Amino acid sequence: MNPAYMVRQMQENFSDLYGVRGRITSLKPLNPHNAPDEWEIRVLQSFDKGARNVAELVTVDGKPYLRAMRAFMTEKGCLKCHGHQGYKSADVRGGVGAYVMMEPYLAVERAEARTLNITHGGIWLLGLVVSGSCRAAAQNASRSAKPIPTPAGERGTHPPVARLYRRRNLRCRP
Ligand code: HEC
Repeated sequence: MNPAYMVRQMQENFSDLYGVRGRITSLKPLNPHNAPDEWEIRVLQSFDKGARNVAELVTVDGKPYLRAMRAFMTEKGCLKCHGHQGYKSADVRGGVGAYVMMEPYLAVERAEARTLNITHGGIWLLGLVVSGSCRAAAQNASRSAKPIPTPAGERGTHPPVARLYRRRNLRCRP
């Protein structure tokens, strides 16, 4: 039992659960099953030049995938099994990568965008209705602002009261 074997078992057994497929690879694989594909060769070569993390959107069979790989560095403990291959501590031993099927995530994103459009559209419509009814109420209020008899018996609109009344009813006017 070695770490790579465990990672490989886990990746093979659980990979399709979330549409994520993992892989462990190297330019000098101990196990030919871990031999890199073209994309991995390019990324592993970039690790040798100093890169440590690469993520790219790629298309496989017309479907979008996110491919990501991280450098897997050699530590002292690894040399017990990988030392004979010529590795030293802090060398890039290979990479741990993931293949993420983007289709389900894009579908969720599309559904969320649809929900957002609907809710935002609803709020906009509600705003339109509320401001429309406010305006109508304000117009009604100013129309029905009746002249108030003054103490002197003259008919006229009592200015401070009318102003108060209008202010209260016109509050929602922009
Ligand atoms: C107990 C022995 C052992 C130790 C310790 C060990 N490995 Fe491995 N490693 C293996 C074997 C055996 C394989 C091939 C196994 C397989 O895929 O089934 C392997 C495979 C790998 C691979 C995949 C490419 C390949 O060569 O097949 C990488 C990358 C890797 N090891 C990195 C490391 C790193 C980094 C460490 C230390 C953190 C480490 N290993 C420690 C035994 C070991």
